[in-house]
Amino acid sequence: MITIDGNTYHLQGDAYSYCFYVKNGKLLHGYYGQRLEKFVAVCDAPMDDFAAYEYGEFGRGDFRSPSIVVRDNGGIATDFQFVSHEILAIKPRIGMPQLRGEHQTLAVYLRDEKRGIKLTLFYTPLSQGLCRSAAIENESAESVFVDKFLSTCVDFPSGEYDILHLSGRPNKERDIVRERVSEGIKTISSTRGTTSHEHNCFCALLQPEANEEYGNAYGFNLIYSGNFAIETEKDALGQIRLNAGEQILYGGWELNAGERIYTPEVVCVYSAKGIGEMSRQFHTLYRKHLLDPRFVDKIRPIVINSWESVVYDVCEETMFRFIENAKGLGIDTVVLDDGWFGKRDNDDCSLGDWVVDKRKLPNGLQAIIRKCKENGMKFGLWFEPEMVSPDSDLNRLHPDWVLQSCHRESVQFRNQWVLDFSKKEVVDYVFASMKKVLDENDISYVKWDMNRPLTDVLNAKKYRAYMLGVYDLYERLTTSFPNLFIEGCSSGGGRFDPAILYYSPMIWTSDNTDAWSRTMIQHSTSLCYPLQSMSNHVSACPNIQTGRTISFATRGTVAMMGCLGYELHVENEEERVAVRMQTATYQKDADVILTGDLYRLKNPFTDGAFAQIVVSEDKQKAVFCYVRKDSEPTRGKIVERVCLRGLGEDVLYKAEETGEIQTGKTWMCVGVQLRLEKSDYACASLHFSAV
Ligand code: GLA
Repeated sequence: MITIDGNTYHLQGDAYSYCFYVKNGKLLHGYYGQRLEKFVAVCDAPMDDFAAYEYGEFGRGDFRSPSIVVRDNGGIATDFQFVSHEILAIKPRIGMPQLRGEHQTLAVYLRDEKRGIKLTLFYTPLSQGLCRSAAIENESAESVFVDKFLSTCVDFPSGEYDILHLSGRPNKERDIVRERVSEGIKTISSTRGTTSHEHNCFCALLQPEANEEYGNAYGFNLIYSGNFAIETEKDALGQIRLNAGEQILYGGWELNAGERIYTPEVVCVYSAKGIGEMSRQFHTLYRKHLLDPRFVDKIRPIVINSWESVVYDVCEETMFRFIENAKGLGIDTVVLDDGWFGKRDNDDCSLGDWVVDKRKLPNGLQAIIRKCKENGMKFGLWFEPEMVSPDSDLNRLHPDWVLQSCHRESVQFRNQWVLDFSKKEVVDYVFASMKKVLDENDISYVKWDMNRPLTDVLNAKKYRAYMLGVYDLYERLTTSFPNLFIEGCSSGGGRFDPAILYYSPMIWTSDNTDAWSRTMIQHSTSLCYPLQSMSNHVSACPNIQTGRTISFATRGTVAMMGCLGYELHVENEEERVAVRMQTATYQKDADVILTGDLYRLKNPFTDGAFAQIVVSEDKQKAVFCYVRKDSEPTRGKIVERVCLRGLGEDVLYKAEETGEIQTGKTWMCVGVQLRLEKSDYACASLHFSAV
């Protein structure tokens, strides 16, 4: 709800209020937190260098990190003054992925008269969170350079806060970092042209005492897949400014006279009930307003992917065996990963040549697809659309299509270059070559990979233009093939962000398929992203990333907390039985897992155990899983007690596996008694139904 009372703006969701007001022509931040019925501005707030501003500016007396910097020959200082406001019936279309739907939006117009620049701040209050973005328009006669232009700024009153963010590396995505915000500036960012493995475009500011269940938590997540920056700055009064948005890199972004640019959107979620509630609000908000309505809340195809077991040794015989072995196991789709095109016997050639390698597949993909159908399954295929190998026909034909600058040969990563997706002809070409494969073959699923960062980018503006090219290809594919399911991937989970989620309802969470590593990766990913966005595969042991051997049951239990899939040759009868059981168990309650409310009960980073429960929206069903890292010496089986969360207190639930019936309150207060096998990485799962 948007309420405007004189010079005061009050935005409300179900459980939050966000307020600001105009004083002496400037926008001052008023309040962000628990929902208030009414907000009255503190009108004697001093307008000095410590004032809480709604959007930080540079050069006129506010010395904290600004949200906008615009440079021209006249200088760098800006002075945006309030002009007017408007309530828009629909959120502006910003030309890139954004929250869907036609939501009422407050637009606040500001102008720097001397510089001739117009700034608009957009606020869209949704039930679970506030969506913010901004636009600038160059109304002067000269071009200007935009050095910084962020989506959101929040000035928090003085007090102690922790910042929680997700940092990592390939195979170890999104480790949780939590530390006290201290004096000075801290920036979490990516300059890789992708969201990156190293930092996710998410952070939360937390009351220091906040945990899963208690305390104030403010989450921020940028709907963008390229360079970003999230800054926190603590000033001398102990106030904290949080700035978040796309990072415009060195040299600035030239904005010609008459031109306008939008920032990507930032989703701001506030919870007074701890980190768990913050996560659930993000999940609900993304299910309602971000994910593709064609796929949202639908059971994801259970895939078997060829990568870890077949690697580049693709051939008809191997694939036939792979498919036959997957028959009758409850698997929907066989995904042929890398190695099917050009002359791709290893990673040093052929990216860009999206033509079947007839040496390996003499009868084309058709023969493979026929085999899948005969065995009751659909077919999916891997592409890495944004890339080109130096050794490829595409590069020989169009060497000028590579991202390149300063007349230098571009840097190679994994023996590959990045195509310049800011050029329409490049996107046209890639789309046409993918379309040909998709037109000629019955393909229901594509895995879109992206395996290296951007380098040799000409200038700051090109980074955005590149991302727009990527989104354009996504648009064309999803429009031309409305039933095509596109899984996102970037060397595992290197581009796990809301903008990719807008198109890809599910993203490969990590190349690390080790079940214990995955407990951590899935736990941290769920801080912001819903379980239905996480693609999890059971793979062979010893695990190729960690060398660890973990039971098939535990591998399945972990993979089921999201979108279950497989990535191994199912060759022996024992595994066949296990897969059949897992897919059947999963399918029975997949709707609960994918659409229910998630409660994280144990934190694998700190508790030596992973435990989650997902409770259906109507509280009639719940799925619980548990994995314990180390075995302890005991006489009998290891007994562990875990108190559940999220159940209806007075509802009677039966645990299917044990037959035990208790009220939700008992399950939550007394807990479940788990009898675990005496082994490391022992697991348990329980399915609850109201009786
Ligand atoms: C990346 C992906 C893997 C696999 C390989 C293929 O590493 O993350 O899942 O597709 O590329 O080369």
